Amino acid sequence: MFRPTYPIRTARLTLRPVTLDDLDDVYSWQRRPDVFRWTLGEPRTREESRSSVLAMAGEDALRAEGDCLTLAVATDAGVIGTVELVWRSRTDRTAELGYVFHPGHGGRGLATEAAAALVNWGFTGFGLHRVYARCHGRNAASARLMARLGMRQEARHVESYLFRGEWADQIVYAILASEWARRP
Ligand SMILES: CC(C)(COP(=O)(O)OP(=O)(O)OC[C@H]1O[C@@H](n2cnc3c(N)ncnc32)[C@H](O)[C@@H]1OP(=O)(O)O)[C@@H](O)C(=O)NCCC(=O)NCCS
Repeated sequence: MFRPTYPIRTARLTLRPVTLDDLDDVYSWQRRPDVFRWTLGEPRTREESRSSVLAMAGEDALRAEGDCLTLAVATDAGVIGTVELVWRSRTDRTAELGYVFHPGHGGRGLATEAAAALVNWGFTGFGLHRVYARCHGRNAASARLMARLGMRQEARHVESYLFRGEWADQIVYAILASEWARRP
């Protein structure tokens, strides 16, 4: 079983497993249509958020390939988002990064700071070789975040998936452990 030593602290943030006490905070963004603008899924009811929080609360460690590690990102204002790593391949030591933040806390680099902390654990604590992330071709904020992390755009899969009834492009970014280590 692999898990960070909790909490992970950064200059402005604390990252730790999700708990049911986070429901109000998580619901405050999961209820918003703008948060789902470029992702599959719909705004949630409070009951749906409760199920989501319970599921995330169990994602505190990577036990087997396919597992997701989800961390709540907290400030003095409460939990403002989550970051996650999905263990895609044991053989290839590869994981996929994901993140969702409350728009009210956007534009200050907090999501980048949290994602960087998780990616850093992925490389230096968990021993990953490669981390990738994907987003809708028009999710510019997500693409900028990946670029800020030092990830390279590797692909743009044109009209590769159906997004709300329309063909959509998916862009793929990635970074290797060696590149992460050389980051300024
Ligand atoms: C993707 C998402 C997390 C990005 O949020 P964000 O607020 O743009 O990201 P950050 O918190 O890292 O803030 C970065 C912004 O703050 C600015 N900023 C200000 N101070 C900063 C600092 N100290 N450090 C870094 N950036 C800073 C950056 O310039 C950037 O602005 P820009 O993108 O306009 O250039 C957010 O849009 C989101 O949760 N979307 C919904 C869910 C989603 O789509 N997830 C991705 C699925 S693939």
